[in-house]
Amino acid sequence: MKFLQEVFSINSKVQAGELVIAGCKATSLAQEFGTPLFVLDEGDFRSRVLAWKSALERHFGSQSGQVYYASKSFISVEVAKWIAELGIGIDVCTGGELAVALAAQFPPEKIEVHGNNKSELEISTAIAAGVGKIVIDSSQEIERVNRLAKSAGVIQSVFLRLTPGVEAHTHEAIATAHEDVKFGFSISSGAAWQAVLAVEEAANLKLVGLHCHIGSQIFTSEGFEVATTRLIEVLGKFRDNFNRELPELDMGGGYGIAYVGGEQTYDPDLAMASLAKVIHSQCTQHKISVPIISIEPGRAIAGPSTTTLYEVGTTKNVLLDSGASRLYVAVDGGMSDNIRPGLYGAIYTALLANRESKAAGVSARIVGKHCESGDIIIREIDLPSDIGPGDLIAIPATGAYGRSMASNYNHMPRPAVVAVTNGTARRILRRETQADLLALDVVEAPKTL
Ligand SMILES: Cc1ncc(COP(=O)(O)O)c(C=O)c1O
Repeated sequence: MKFLQEVFSINSKVQAGELVIAGCKATSLAQEFGTPLFVLDEGDFRSRVLAWKSALERHFGSQSGQVYYASKSFISVEVAKWIAELGIGIDVCTGGELAVALAAQFPPEKIEVHGNNKSELEISTAIAAGVGKIVIDSSQEIERVNRLAKSAGVIQSVFLRLTPGVEAHTHEAIATAHEDVKFGFSISSGAAWQAVLAVEEAANLKLVGLHCHIGSQIFTSEGFEVATTRLIEVLGKFRDNFNRELPELDMGGGYGIAYVGGEQTYDPDLAMASLAKVIHSQCTQHKISVPIISIEPGRAIAGPSTTTLYEVGTTKNVLLDSGASRLYVAVDGGMSDNIRPGLYGAIYTALLANRESKAAGVSARIVGKHCESGDIIIREIDLPSDIGPGDLIAIPATGAYGRSMASNYNHMPRPAVVAVTNGTARRILRRETQADLLALDVVEAPKTL
């Protein structure tokens, strides 16, 4: 099997037939920490944070705002500490993600709070923590954030999330800025402008800018350009109506990464160059100053850094109607640690990680151990015909929306995440145990209500 460097983390290689990540052999990792296992190449993660930060700074100079790491892609207290240390911000979209950032002592002014249905508790916790921005997503939230800021005695800085009506070229489930969507205020229907007026009226809110996020796993600039153009039109209208400028614009995340051979991860420099071009030209056209620009990459930072290691448990040759046969290879995880193939039809590649095989390739399907026929990790891949129980399979680029979307389906404990660097490995999230899961079971006396 060919090792595809472009889909593995930068410190991964094959040595003596075995996958080695940041100096740690796949077999040693599996032996020490068990499988399934998320192996996070710390150097890879850190270098992508810095690449996005420096690309933003290179193309926007003094107009650079924050790179907010989208913590929904993957977060742990340790990772939040890396992010803080590297000097970027963090985007959280639930009270849970906010709790992780706060547990890492993340500088609150660099926290941006998202969510299309934030609870009053989430809003008041965020305000009490002193978060930098709350991104308002609905008209009810204008009233709620204003009221809670007032009772806390603060003026809260807010962004308004707008929906620019862009059909991003990605899977429907991860396109977020067309009209028929739950997020934000539609520009074309006038809801966005009504929201601007309402926030301006709210005494305890300070509108500092506009936000949009058009979707995820996007490889071309067109969608970003259309969205930027439409948001800058609103900035122009604001200046015309209020005789002052809104200082900030946050263009969200969504930059695509390579999952299989032939795909190319979006280069931060190219992404920021094309964003800068359209922002500069649109601001000139509307005769407004270039605002402070922020972005929110998640997948593009976390995704390529991590590889999942699985152990093969069983194999089965299945005869197809066509007369051909398919080798089913079942591993010890599946849809509970990677729901993306089931949810979005996401595609991945794989590598036999523990040894070299000279056996001929056969048409194979990598499946999990869950009680669902749809528990498929890779629908179609050539694997060596001698693959069998005890072999290790590595699936690269599982760092984003893998562990963070993991579930306990079939009462499976969620896997550990191990950070590797310079031949050392340490857990940053431990594997759940049956005891963790059973601890939720209670036998209570009924309460009369
Ligand atoms: C508001 C917002 N920002 C940023 C992101 C991160 O997107 P990605 O991981 O594709 O960069 C998301 C993803 O859903 C999002 O909803």
